[in-house]
Amino acid sequence: MENNIIYPYFVVEGRNKKQEIKNFPGIYRFSADTLLKDVSEAGSLGLSKILLFGIPSRKDSEAVSACGPGSIAAKAVKSLKKEFKDLTVFTDVCLCAYTTHGHCGLFKEGKREIDPKRTLSRLADVALSHAEAGVDFVAPSAMAKGQILAIRNALDKRGFRNVKIMGYSAKFASNFYGPFREAADSAPAFGDRSGYQLNYTDPAAALREITQDIKEGADIVMVKPALSYLDVIKQASLKFDHPLAAFNVSGEYALVKYGAGRGLWDEKKMTLEIISSIKRAGADLIITYHAKDIAKWLKKT
Ligand code: PBG
Ligand code: ZN
Repeated sequence: MENNIIYPYFVVEGRNKKQEIKNFPGIYRFSADTLLKDVSEAGSLGLSKILLFGIPSRKDSEAVSACGPGSIAAKAVKSLKKEFKDLTVFTDVCLCAYTTHGHCGLFKEGKREIDPKRTLSRLADVALSHAEAGVDFVAPSAMAKGQILAIRNALDKRGFRNVKIMGYSAKFASNFYGPFREAADSAPAFGDRSGYQLNYTDPAAALREITQDIKEGADIVMVKPALSYLDVIKQASLKFDHPLAAFNVSGEYALVKYGAGRGLWDEKKMTLEIISSIKRAGADLIITYHAKDIAKWLKKT
């Protein structure tokens, strides 16, 4: 079970930090040093895969702080891979946490319109910097057309054929991302993400996106969120013979936690029921903030 679970982490600059996040119980922003400690604890519970979200201390319109060996994510990957030989590290590759406007791509000069070319080139730079730091999988989540191919080509050209890609292939414009956006301070400053994320009334688009990502070279494809999209996960698992991940997102997690806190239900029983439903739908991998709790519960029983 633990082998199929990916645990998300948020990493910030500084030392000795373990910051609570508003409306995100049990999840923290760690500095690199405390992150190592927590990952080691997760490892002793049997978890061996993590998904890293870098949260920069500086933002600008061009997401400059997302790139290069000094980016928060690159530095964290480097120290994680040095410390833990058996850890599989995935990094989220997106720009929304690094831009002042909070959108997932870069804009055209002087306009509030995504510039596809500049966005792809920036995403490829970010992925390369994670590869140079030693990441196992990059996970582009910007929903920019052609992002898998652009990243694959950039990685191959620089000799990183061994670095794999998990595409956030079918990512819906969802209401379930609230706690995450608090954690990453990545809510759009204006507008929303419906220009690039999928519409939940159109499941066929999700299957087209997954087909496209597989063509472009994704090693793992993903459906996100999970619970309101079990039908999409099921269809994808039947249609594609490709490793399939499902992202049990922050809002889904928070519902369980807050309800349990008010005595509405048993957190352990409800979480295990939810995870079982995502597996039943056909997900091979589950990204979930419940990972450590699940690992603890399964250890005890
Ligand atoms: C960034 C990103 C988001 C999530 C993962 N990567 C937020 C968004 O698209 O606004 C959401 C994860 C979660 O809610 O747990 N593109
Ligand atoms: Zn984004």
